[in-house]
Amino acid sequence: MTNFQRVLSPMELGSKTVRNRIVSTPHATGWELDGGLISDREADYLIRKAKGGAGLVMTFGSASVDPTTAASYGAVALWDEQNEPQLRRMAKEIHAHGSLLISQATHMGNRGSSKNTFTPVRGVSTLPEPDHREVSVPLTKAELQQLIQRYVDVAQRLERCGWDGIEITSFAHLIGQFWNSGFNDRTDEYGGSLENRMRFGKEVVAAVNAATGDDFLISFRMSLEFQTKTRDFEIPTNELKTIAVEMANTGDIDMLSVTVGDAMNNPGLSVAMGSDFIPPATAKEVAADVAREIEIPLLVTGRILTGEAAEEILASQSADLVGMTRAIIADPDMPQKLASGQSVRECIGINQGCIGRLYSGYPIICSVNPAIRTPELESLEPSQQIGKVVVVGAGAAGLEAAKHAAKRGHEVVILERDDAVGGRARINAEHGWRPSWQKYLDYIEAELQVLGVQFEFGAAATADAVLAHSPDSVVIATGSRLRPNFLSNSNLKAVDGDRIVAEPPQPNGNNKALIIDEEAHMVAPNAAEVLGNNGWDVTIATPLQMLGGEIDSTLIPVVHQKLAPYKPQVIPNARALNAEGSAVVLENVMTGETSGIEDIGLLVVSGHRESETDLLEELVQRAPELDIRRVGDAHAPRDLDAATDEGALVGASIG
Ligand SMILES: Cc1cc2nc3c(=O)[nH]c(=O)nc-3n(C[C@H](O)[C@H](O)[C@H](O)COP(=O)(O)O)c2cc1C
Ligand code: SF4
Repeated sequence: MTNFQRVLSPMELGSKTVRNRIVSTPHATGWELDGGLISDREADYLIRKAKGGAGLVMTFGSASVDPTTAASYGAVALWDEQNEPQLRRMAKEIHAHGSLLISQATHMGNRGSSKNTFTPVRGVSTLPEPDHREVSVPLTKAELQQLIQRYVDVAQRLERCGWDGIEITSFAHLIGQFWNSGFNDRTDEYGGSLENRMRFGKEVVAAVNAATGDDFLISFRMSLEFQTKTRDFEIPTNELKTIAVEMANTGDIDMLSVTVGDAMNNPGLSVAMGSDFIPPATAKEVAADVAREIEIPLLVTGRILTGEAAEEILASQSADLVGMTRAIIADPDMPQKLASGQSVRECIGINQGCIGRLYSGYPIICSVNPAIRTPELESLEPSQQIGKVVVVGAGAAGLEAAKHAAKRGHEVVILERDDAVGGRARINAEHGWRPSWQKYLDYIEAELQVLGVQFEFGAAATADAVLAHSPDSVVIATGSRLRPNFLSNSNLKAVDGDRIVAEPPQPNGNNKALIIDEEAHMVAPNAAEVLGNNGWDVTIATPLQMLGGEIDSTLIPVVHQKLAPYKPQVIPNARALNAEGSAVVLENVMTGETSGIEDIGLLVVSGHRESETDLLEELVQRAPELDIRRVGDAHAPRDLDAATDEGALVGASIG
């Protein structure tokens, strides 16, 4: 008997039946082809979700209804009939796997981008969004009517191609911008009173409903709480609730899809795409408040990570369906696994692989599921030359290498000098800001045990230890270390920013700490918080133009919020040039000017790493014929996403 009766129970959605309550909500991938054409990769990815058992697959984040609107990172052009063959294929295959499918469709208003088209974006008014700052050309009343027809055209296209429905979203896009007095300064019947501001959204859903068949579903998406910290642009939460209830009562929609946060600025995004810094089930309470007042099914989304959390939401009648989008990216088989009682690879909410990459201009991957980038990893052929593989190092790269080699049938042994798996991920999980890495480590360690991988903990990474196993292949996953020659003139010993969180020193007379941040992601801010908390007065010098220059917009607000109590001084555009005694000389990378920081009591360095290759060099000398591969930081110091990705690919390629 499964514990997930509610989650796995079917329900009526309009005139259709959805097989369970698990929904993959619309999300962009960055995989569409030029011009907004749906790539095979994107279509196959969405079909895979249906194969894994999701009840409802919602597709294409922010797909455009009109050529004048597209996200800066691209969007599927639903207005383009060239997409029809792919839409038909998707409908056929997703239905064959038993899921319903609904596509999001939108006009992004002033959140669009003119960077690709060189055509001004169209919006409610000329007032820009705080973050994107695009000034739009206000849509005339006649253009609004044409735009409504565009929504209708797209809905009819989806219906024609066999789709179950459309999701019209307001969430951070044109319809929501009409509601928002921060943007909407119109004096016509689309501005002013709430009734007027709601007019456009209501006209869209009414027109789409009138133009499509009774069994074609219409979902409407919105945020119930902005949390942007930008007071002038916030729609008050009570007004959002009024809007939600009114939209649900229009009679034109079949499902209300709600979440929290907004995309107009980074703090709003940090909630909408809540990372592991944000509490789970973020929208549960506000959704429950609306659920009590509407008759149509309510879908709630936002950091619902586990079957247990989903079951609890349904049991408390906070919603009828649960969006588990990143949960499904991390493990597309999650719905089926809940049914069969198998353990699920949880989304760890680090964000940097999926939404973090998207917002940094790269297509999505998943930090814990390398098959998102390389789907072939899910269907590996058994090796024709089964052999013995020794993996040295049980960090993320070594673990993935071991797993994928074992999946191909090899006998795998992992040698690890510590007494636990995880390497840098474990230090971070145990002492740093990302405890959720431990979930991944526990999951993969259990997987390796099932695959019969042998672990030798406390094992010296020596050539003797490796060769004693008579391996056919060796994977060097020994990680990286701080470059020893960092500021060698100094009598300050540079401490590794990665490791300092585990054992932060106490100030001894001099509490002045300098962090040289070349990594520009989480290591330096995390170290700064820990040191600040231990009484250090922290300065961070970075060659980039700002603190955490590589941190994406869903994470950076939380970094600032965490550091606010300690107020570290940040010196941008600065690299460490040299050191003398306990002083460090910084060079401004823009101007070449130098400045000194005297009397440093603690010098911490983040980044500036080198691969640990001692073992590799020894093995190459002792066994020149041996098949030796390098993965992760031992190959070249990079981030944990690179470690899981490369580990998986290398492990899969052995023999
Ligand atoms: C990579 C990525 C892209 C997204 N793009 C969109 C989008 O274009 N439109 C949208 O309404 N939501 C988008 N979302 C938000 C998701 O639909 C969902 O609300 C969010 O991921 C929170 O749900 P979760 O915690 O279950 O992942 C995106 C999410 C991710 C991870
Ligand atoms: S990249 Fe991270 S946050 Fe995104 S789905 Fe994968 S585990 Fe979750």
